Amino acid sequence: MKFDPWSSEFVAHPYDVYAELRRERPVGFFEPTGQWLVARHADVNALLRDRRLGRSYLHVATHAEFGRPDDPGFQDPFWRVIRAGMLDVEPPVHTRLRRLVSKAFTPRMVEALRPKVAELATGLVDRFVENGGGDLIAEVAEPLPVTVIAEMLGVPEADRHLLRPWSADICGMYELNPSIEAQHTAVRAASEFSDYLVGLARHRREHPGDDLISALAQVADGGDALTEEELVGTCVLLLNAGHEATVNVTGNGWWSLFRNPAELERLRADHGLLPTAIEELMRWDTPLQMFERWVLEDITVGGVDIPRGSEVALLFGSANRDPEVFDDPDRLDVGRADNPHISFGAGIHFCLGAPLARIELAESFGALLRRAPAMELAAEPVWGPGYVIRGLESLQVRV
Ligand code: HEM
Repeated sequence: MKFDPWSSEFVAHPYDVYAELRRERPVGFFEPTGQWLVARHADVNALLRDRRLGRSYLHVATHAEFGRPDDPGFQDPFWRVIRAGMLDVEPPVHTRLRRLVSKAFTPRMVEALRPKVAELATGLVDRFVENGGGDLIAEVAEPLPVTVIAEMLGVPEADRHLLRPWSADICGMYELNPSIEAQHTAVRAASEFSDYLVGLARHRREHPGDDLISALAQVADGGDALTEEELVGTCVLLLNAGHEATVNVTGNGWWSLFRNPAELERLRADHGLLPTAIEELMRWDTPLQMFERWVLEDITVGGVDIPRGSEVALLFGSANRDPEVFDDPDRLDVGRADNPHISFGAGIHFCLGAPLARIELAESFGALLRRAPAMELAAEPVWGPGYVIRGLESLQVRV
């Protein structure tokens, strides 16, 4: 097999190909996407922190100067929303946006949410157990992070069912070489989501509540230069980033445990291993397999010269299995103590929600271990189509 992010076989098991890349071609040009694939942990980690690269180049150059075509006009509504969020901007705009939002996501602030997260997780798991099991993704993995982030932002309960489909459609644009149909779907979702949030933010400005949208709408009012577009871009980012990967860590994580029954038994016998187990599940089957960066100045990586204007694709899934960093990297070890996995990224875009994600995962895995101690797989799961955002379509279990 070779690197083929469009093949379901590769998506289901990319790790042998990654091992070969790390050994034989740790930095190599990939013709079909015109990107440089970077496979080793040390390089991925260094490039994430290197300010000669950026999530965008539009703060220093035009599309033409970077030898890139203009975005097709029909994509405008999509990019307006996405490029207004902190993930797709660089300093100084990034610094300002991140500072405004980060107050709500400090470890202390999110620790205060733990009892609420625990209550939600227990409620979902209790219902799941009463029903004798079912699809763990639809019944537990999805509703928990969606509810938590929707409550933080203040999205009314009646509208929450809209979030997951909008997010999934928007994420279609992040896959490699998305089809024209996927592009149109993403644009439509971004427009609808944006219209919805503009309405909600305007309402909250008039009738503020105790939620993040109200708080950010006040900032937008108060002259700290958070434009309405930035407000909407920030909320879309928080709502999407705030659940996509957590859903997939839950699904991929349980599937990893079922495939490694001795490790599952070890965890069942000692719930004290939960914190290291969660980090290990994030490492062993990484939910976000790849992140991209633009090269803003000529660089050399592993002896390979990469010129300004290039794009690098950082293979997180490969970095997390690098034997230079992890002992016996293909082994799932729920007690792994030294685990510098890269799943939350590194550098200035390091995941803002990492403390919240860790609490959500600890509470949902904890509730399932306690209340469904004999949970078992009921059917072979199927991977969703995504490679960049990689997760199971469903995970049928019996309790
Ligand atoms: C296990 C779950 C999660 C994983 C694996 C994850 C992973 C990541 C990664 C890798 C990045 C950096 C992307 C890059 O450098 O290009 C990132 C950024 C981000 N994540 Fe997460 N994330 C998770 C959960 C969350 C949650 C619950 C939130 C809640 C708000 C969140 C909010 C964000 C935001 C706002 C950014 C952008 C930060 C910036 O650009 O400065 N994430 N995440």
